[in-house]
Amino acid sequence: MIVIMGAGGATGGATLRSLAALGATSRALSRDPARLTAGLDDRTLARTETLAADAADPDSLRAAFRGAHQLFLTMANGPHQVRHELNAIDAAVAGGVQHIVKVSAPAAEADSPVAVSRGHHLIEEHLRSCGVRTTILRPYAFMQKLLLLAPGIAAAGVVHGAMGGARCNYVDARDIGDVAAEVLTRPELGGDTYPLTGGRAYSHPELTALLGELLGRPVRYLDLTPAELHTHLTGRAGMPDWLAAHVVEIQQLAVVREESPDDTFTRLVGRAPRTLEAFLGEHLHRFR
Ligand SMILES: NC(=O)c1ccc[n+]([C@@H]2O[C@H](COP(=O)([O-])OP(=O)(O)OC[C@H]3O[C@@H](n4cnc5c(N)ncnc54)[C@H](OP(=O)(O)O)[C@@H]3O)[C@@H](O)[C@H]2O)c1
Repeated sequence: MIVIMGAGGATGGATLRSLAALGATSRALSRDPARLTAGLDDRTLARTETLAADAADPDSLRAAFRGAHQLFLTMANGPHQVRHELNAIDAAVAGGVQHIVKVSAPAAEADSPVAVSRGHHLIEEHLRSCGVRTTILRPYAFMQKLLLLAPGIAAAGVVHGAMGGARCNYVDARDIGDVAAEVLTRPELGGDTYPLTGGRAYSHPELTALLGELLGRPVRYLDLTPAELHTHLTGRAGMPDWLAAHVVEIQQLAVVREESPDDTFTRLVGRAPRTLEAFLGEHLHRFR
């Protein structure tokens, strides 16, 4: 049995669907299984068992890993993410899980300039000390998060950022699900660390040019200082302080560490990654 923690989210949901497409069955954990079930298509539903579990409550995790041999672990960012993931790992190991696939992030290092990535480093280190087989996925920015820019583009045709002409390795979260499903069903792929990118990196000026072309009207990129971007995100965009700080740190990371596409996805899945053009095309109505 494969347990998916974070099944209601972008990468967990994608993994659940990709596993079902391969004919594998999973146990999907959520704090709200009814909401999770309501969002599943029939094929995925037929191959999914859902169970209530809260990573903040270790007692609720005991039943989650009964009879399970693998865990796909992805967790929403937030102030308690490290504790939540360590709780899930400890419960999985105690429950007899032998392989854990974790969604991490680029620059998961002890002295990373990105606080969330320092948290991922702690979780990765804990995982490696647990004696179970460990596979780490380190995707770059999800295309799905670009939908957060849609209201600003629809209302004013503007994207705010603080990364000048630096490029970003956008990856479609559905591709992360496809990689995870391969790793969970082909034992020879386990035990490694995989960076995941799309097929082409885009700067903000390139992204806005592409959006303008697809929409048939201009979209402007407004380049701010990191402090100005933080103020914009906590003010008009309404983000909590920690999330705004995270967005600024991620953008500064792309400035100091040049991002360029990597062929790991194609090597593992056997096809090219989904493109940004296709993703934006699918969701264009949101930007109008
Ligand atoms: N966004 C990016 O561009 C990006 C790039 C690189 C890496 N990452 C990494 O990817 C991971 C997030 O992936 P994602 O976007 O798929 O996550 P997400 O959609 O934000 O959230 C995943 C799930 O976490 C679950 N969760 C939150 N608190 C929980 C708790 N106490 N107990 C059990 N489940 C809990 C939620 O499930 P329920 O509500 O159903 O319980 C939610 O569906 C992060 O760790 C992030 O650092 C993200």
